Amino acid sequence: MDKAKIKLITCGLPYANGKAHIGHLRTYVPADVYVKYLRLFGEEVIFVCGSDCHGTPIVVNAEKEGLKPKELVDIYHEHFQKVFREINVEFDYFGRTDAEYHHKRTQEIVQRLLDNGYIYPKEIELAYCPNCNRFLPDRYVEGVCPYCGAIARGDECDQGCGRHLEPGEILEPRCKICGSKAIYRKQKHYFFKLTEFKDFLLDYLGKLKGTENALNYAKQWVTMELKDWCITRNLEWGVKFPGEDLVVYVWVDAPIGYISFTEKACEGKMDWKDIWLKSKAEIIHFIGLDIVYHHCIFWPAMLKGAEYSLPNAVVASGMVKVEGKTFSKSRGYVVWLEDDYLASGLNTDFLRYYLVNYTSHQKDLNFSWEVFADKINNELIANLGNFLYRVTHFAWKNFGKLDAKVDEAALEAIETAVDKIKKALENWEFKAVSDAFMELSSFGNNYFQNAKPWDLIKSNREECEKAVATCLQLAKALTILSYPVLPKTMKEFSKFLGFDVKKSGIEDALKVEGFEIEKPKIPFAKLFPEKIAELEQTMHERIAMAEKRELGEKGELEEVKVSVKVSEVETRGKVKVEEENKPEEIDMREITFEEFKNLDLRIGKIVKAEKIEKSKKLLRLEVDVGDEVRQVVAGIAEYYEPEALVGKLVPILVNLKPAKLMGVESRGMILAADRNGEPILLHPDKEVEPGTRIR
Ligand code: MSP
Ligand code: ZN
Repeated sequence: MDKAKIKLITCGLPYANGKAHIGHLRTYVPADVYVKYLRLFGEEVIFVCGSDCHGTPIVVNAEKEGLKPKELVDIYHEHFQKVFREINVEFDYFGRTDAEYHHKRTQEIVQRLLDNGYIYPKEIELAYCPNCNRFLPDRYVEGVCPYCGAIARGDECDQGCGRHLEPGEILEPRCKICGSKAIYRKQKHYFFKLTEFKDFLLDYLGKLKGTENALNYAKQWVTMELKDWCITRNLEWGVKFPGEDLVVYVWVDAPIGYISFTEKACEGKMDWKDIWLKSKAEIIHFIGLDIVYHHCIFWPAMLKGAEYSLPNAVVASGMVKVEGKTFSKSRGYVVWLEDDYLASGLNTDFLRYYLVNYTSHQKDLNFSWEVFADKINNELIANLGNFLYRVTHFAWKNFGKLDAKVDEAALEAIETAVDKIKKALENWEFKAVSDAFMELSSFGNNYFQNAKPWDLIKSNREECEKAVATCLQLAKALTILSYPVLPKTMKEFSKFLGFDVKKSGIEDALKVEGFEIEKPKIPFAKLFPEKIAELEQTMHERIAMAEKRELGEKGELEEVKVSVKVSEVETRGKVKVEEENKPEEIDMREITFEEFKNLDLRIGKIVKAEKIEKSKKLLRLEVDVGDEVRQVVAGIAEYYEPEALVGKLVPILVNLKPAKLMGVESRGMILAADRNGEPILLHPDKEVEPGTRIR
């Protein structure tokens, strides 16, 4: 840690478009824990976040609810702030991107990018609804993914291959509002020259700090082909693009929130320009793995182009699963923070501990009420809660005031814990941080057990006082060291030990100065099995209801963040996040041989190939698969001439559910290697009969 520099910590901005759930906290709790530790170690920190208020989902959802976008945003902005307050995530400033100061900063940065020549206009074909008389940006349009043929929305193939789709790419576009067939119309839009930043990014990513997961993805993406980004949209709601009747794409203005919220946080304290223009601070972004692309590629390129300071680290958490299943609001695999957790009256520190201690920050985190109860009862309460209470209670009952004599061994154990915590923080390992104080607590329990103060008090009061004072020193150190994870509980408990943990620094953990003890209350109330059973039941009812509702209205406009697959990274978009549709499956990364056997894979012979009218990407093929000749549509027209394909042997998945692409039925799928989006056909090593099985 570079102590000389002030640190700016940010968290990915929540969309002000839906309720807070446990997935969100995977970003916010560890970031808050990190900030609280930095402050404990005497560092100067600014911690900002805010509501992400723009983008089509918000406009579409507001329309659905009969509200203005701002009214919808007001509701969720308020909601998130309330949840953060209750769970003790304490930002110095929590702003909103629809505020005037944010629009001003965004326009200034866009203007700089224009002045510096990084933005250029281009005529493109865009989906337009002749019935509604409007262009259809992003989620206003639905159609067919040009890459995989799945039903997709305008900016993302969310149910198929997961690719980010640029405006104009989607096939068979339909208007989301009235359902009519959309047409393509030309319009001038603006592009950001991301391609010019390749060398800069290669160099920058070599120096960027943070978690391996984020850095590795990002490096992989830059070495693949970068594409310029269309950064304007036909919408009313958003930050106006200078001189045009367009707004900037939500992913341009959202990260600028980190800057505009810093301005607000700095008001009356320091000059925000020192941070964002003069690189006098260390900038650290906390995000989830699903938005690495935006933070490691797009954002630094924008900052560089506008001559702003560059972030020093990107810390990405793994995603959250629920009860072993992929996180899904529509299927009921979700824990709502307000309706479920806060309403149940459980100590909010329990959830903080679970989120931090369950697993390494970079791994996926599984939430289950059963494991939750087990970790809280058998670790947190049995170890830490037990130690704090028994020691403090014994000291209050038998001494009240105690002398300042403490066993060296305990001070050494505290120092070891402090060192471990520092190291773990440097590696963004919040589990190791919390393990370090739990180990210190085990040390305390052993010490108390071995010293047997309940016997000693009868034979040697002075010896006993030293043993108890030693345990109290450990208890004090524990309240200080665990405060960043358990702020609510430790703030209360420090009173019984006669000090205020909120006003303490790390040096107080080792400062020996005697004790005046108050009658303590137990720090944590035990979780009763009935309570857990109740919460489990709520969840199971929700899942059952969702199953009944079936997929009819399946979360079409909901932002559902789930697990991330390494194999499906893409050059221009988000890491694929997908919603799993088969509840019986727990982990999709491995399949059984039985499952593999269900694939009817064969070698087919292409007997006919031709272009599909009006489609740039698709070819219609006739493939001999042994027992019949099948019609297959393949997205390879940009790379292969139809004539060159006739007679070729290719692998084909025969029992794939038929689908219609551009109105042409496709029965089966040709398999090809995917070189950054370019399909490379595969051919058998020796001549084989059409229909030969692939195993
Ligand atoms: N608005 C964007 C971020 C813009 S940052 C300039 C966004 N919003 S979000 O509400 O979907 O997510 C907010 C934060 O929570 C992000 O950091 C995201 O990665 C994180 N998570 C949201 N759902 C998550 C899980 N299910 N699991 C882990 N983290 C998740 O993305
Ligand atoms: Zn797709």
